[in-house]
Amino acid sequence: MNEPIVFNPFVPSYRKNPYLQLKRLQTGDPVHRSDALQAWVLTRYDDCQLVTRDVEGFSSDARIAQATLEAAAKRQGITDAPMGLRLPNPGRVSRRLGEEPTVIGSDPPGHTRLRGIVNRAFTPRAVEAMKPRIEAITAALLDELPDSGTFEAMEALAQPLPSIVIAEMLGIPPEDRSQFRQWSNAIASTTNLVQSPESVQRVQETTAALVDYFGTFIAEREREPREDLISTLLRAEDEGGRLSRNELLAFCILLLVAGNETTTNLIGGGLHSLLANPEALAALRGRPEAMPDAVEEMLRYDSPVQGLVRFARNDVEIGGKQISAGDIVICMLGAANRDPAQFPDPERFDIDRPDIRHLSFGYGIHYCVGAPLARAEADIALRAVLERWPTVEPGGEAEMGGTFLIRGPQSLPVSVTR
Ligand code: HEM
Repeated sequence: MNEPIVFNPFVPSYRKNPYLQLKRLQTGDPVHRSDALQAWVLTRYDDCQLVTRDVEGFSSDARIAQATLEAAAKRQGITDAPMGLRLPNPGRVSRRLGEEPTVIGSDPPGHTRLRGIVNRAFTPRAVEAMKPRIEAITAALLDELPDSGTFEAMEALAQPLPSIVIAEMLGIPPEDRSQFRQWSNAIASTTNLVQSPESVQRVQETTAALVDYFGTFIAEREREPREDLISTLLRAEDEGGRLSRNELLAFCILLLVAGNETTTNLIGGGLHSLLANPEALAALRGRPEAMPDAVEEMLRYDSPVQGLVRFARNDVEIGGKQISAGDIVICMLGAANRDPAQFPDPERFDIDRPDIRHLSFGYGIHYCVGAPLARAEADIALRAVLERWPTVEPGGEAEMGGTFLIRGPQSLPVSVTR
């Protein structure tokens, strides 16, 4: 008799390399019922695509899902678990703003309106206009580093770049930026699978601080609009109306959760993949114009967002398994991106792979609004590193970090010579 397949993302080895366990699920139990997570865990490309495409069948609204989880915990008699059963979902933070729905945690028609407004601020033109600034910020960060020696690439480049870029886009004054970065890092911890009471409290305090900070800031822009994202979102005033002050507050905080840590992990994870594949790194030196394609492979190979959470609205069958209305479904994007049915030889990092339709930015109506910005940042940052130093090598053992839903290096020592 076959042993049932165990999926245990709580073990430390999962953080180091989730793909072994995920592959086991994908081949042996691709629509897996996890008792530990109280959720269905999907690892096949087609299933993940199907669920994210079907917005009528699967909701993004974690309020409903959180209630289901808590009811399930109660049924099992879990009332005093130190961390409780919590659904990891960034949308939740913003909901502390009086149950304010966010674009990522809402369904149509609410989503359609919010997304319409947000799209007007994140245009390709806005990203294009940011590119010279991204280049200048990258150069300034790299100027701090030695001509020859070893540096910590997460701290030196991958972490600061996205938060400086989004701070500039929002219009945050330079003198507030280091505080802003600390808040941004604290907020990112909400994607942990389980959260200690301390971390829940820290997030609450940080959210409160951000609400104060952005509140003052938004009031200023209401009085005196400028050429920044907040002013644009306040101004955007046609069909769908504009964002209310609370909606704007929730959106600003969402940007920190959805945009910063993820882009940090793309830059860091991408560099990590290049260091592990020196022939790809060497090829890119000769063909810097191939970097955008290489970035797509980095996204596929080690997805910064590993899982998307949905909530089944109806009873439905997937892969022969009966999913009930109310069930939580987690689409494991990192596994879907390594599905051999979609990508031949999926464990191979290959920057020349054609037509990389990874799911790392999601799929369907919630497709990442910041994708062009994240791509531009990774392209510019990684090209700058290769341009600056003729030798770029591992400077020690990298340490993988992140959470169940977010993956990227915790530390990434890089050794360079000029
Ligand atoms: C490599 C970096 C990034 C990755 C991997 C990423 C990934 C994703 C994914 C997978 C989703 C879909 C969520 C879902 O379906 O539930 C998403 C949505 C979103 N992302 Fe990103 N993201 C990145 C960078 C950014 C940046 C830089 C921003 C903004 C500054 C951003 C803002 C958003 C927003 C607002 C949404 C919600 C869109 C909606 O619900 O309609 N992201 N992102």
